[in-house]
Amino acid sequence: MAGARDASAAPLALCLALALSSLSLLPTFAEIDRFLHPPAKDDGSLTFLVVGDWGRQGLYNQSEVAAQMGVVGERMGVDFVVSTGDNFYENGLTGVHDPAFDESFSRIYVAPSLQKQWFSVLGNHDYRGDVEAQLSPVLRAMESRWLCLRSFIVNAGMLDIFMVDTNPFVDEYFTNAGNNTYDWTGVLPRQKYISDLLEDLDLALKSSRANWKMVVGHHPIKSAGVHGNTKEIVDQMLPILEANGVDFYVNGHDHCLQHISTADSPIQFLTSGGGSKAWRGVVNWPNPDELKLYYDGQGFMSVKIDATQADFVFYDVSGSVLHSWSRTKPLYSIV
Ligand SMILES: *[C@@H]1O[C@H](CO)[C@@H](O)[C@H](O)[C@H]1NC(C)=O
Ligand SMILES: *[C@@H]1O[C@H](CO)[C@@H](O)[C@H](O)[C@H]1NC(C)=O
Repeated sequence: MAGARDASAAPLALCLALALSSLSLLPTFAEIDRFLHPPAKDDGSLTFLVVGDWGRQGLYNQSEVAAQMGVVGERMGVDFVVSTGDNFYENGLTGVHDPAFDESFSRIYVAPSLQKQWFSVLGNHDYRGDVEAQLSPVLRAMESRWLCLRSFIVNAGMLDIFMVDTNPFVDEYFTNAGNNTYDWTGVLPRQKYISDLLEDLDLALKSSRANWKMVVGHHPIKSAGVHGNTKEIVDQMLPILEANGVDFYVNGHDHCLQHISTADSPIQFLTSGGGSKAWRGVVNWPNPDELKLYYDGQGFMSVKIDATQADFVFYDVSGSVLHSWSRTKPLYSIV
C-alpha cells in the first residue's frame, strides 16, 4: 500500500466526500478499499455501536437489541454502526433479492439513530449463501446505509478501523468438518488470498497515522465462548497486529459479549456477538482475572473515542450497562 494517504491529503478527500456522497471510496494501491468517515461532532469525538451475529427476522431478541441500540445510538449521536458478521442466518442471502435483507436488516434497525452508515464484515454463515450478494452495489442501492465488503479500512480521524475477512483462515470450513457448503467465489486459491490479505493488512497498519488502531473480524482471537480461540488467526494474524501497535481486536462468532485482557498481549480483545440467538451456556477461560466481562446473553457494545481516550460500554437486551472501561494514551501523531 505504497500510496497510503498522508494527513495532508485529508482535506481533498473530504471535499470529494462532500461532493460525491457522505461516504467516499478513496483511491488505493492495494486490494483493501479505504473509506473516509471523519468525526462530525463539535468536540471531535467519534461514537459508534458494534453488533454481531444478528439476522434472524427479529427473533431471539434481535428486535429488542435493535431497539436498545436505537436508544443508545440516539443518546450518543452515533456516527456509524459496525457489524462483526453473521449478518443473515442460517445461510447468508440467497441473492440480492432475498427478502431476508429487508426482514432481518431494514425492518429491524428502524430507529432514526441507526440510519447511519453500517460497516459490515462477513461471517461464516454469510459464506453459506450467495456471498457476493452481500457485497453487491445492488444492495447498497436498496439501502444506502449498508456496506459490506470482505476487507476494507475506515479512516475515522483519530481511529483507523481495519475490517478483515477472517473466514478463509479457518481450516474447518475447507475440510468440511461441519458438513456445510461455503461459497468461496472470489477467495480461491485460498493460500494466495490469505497471504495477499496479510501482506495488505501489514502494509496498511504500517502506513496508518491514526492514534488508535482497531481491527474487526468475525472470528475471535481470544474467546471464552463455545468456539474458543481461533487457532489459525492466533498463529497467522495476531503477530502482525501486535507488531503494528493495534489497540483493539473486535469480533463476533461467539454469541455473547466479552472483554479479555491478557498479560501476554497489549491488545484488548472484545466480542460483540450478541445480536440475536445467545445463551450457549459455555464459559471457559483459564485465568478469571483476564476475563473482564463474559455475558452469555444478547446485547451490543458502544465506543466513544477521541484523540487520547477510548470508552467502551457493553449493554444487555434491556439497555442496562454490563461493563464499561476506558483506555487512554498520549497523542503521538497529529491526525
Ligand atoms: C431474551 O432476553 C431475556 C432477557 O435477557 C431472556 O430472559 C430471554 O431468554 C431472551 N430470549 C431468547 C430467545 O434468548
Ligand atoms: C457429517 O456427515 C458425516 C457423514 O454423514 C457424519 O458422520 C458426521 O457426524 C457429520 N458431521 C457433523 C459435524 O455433523
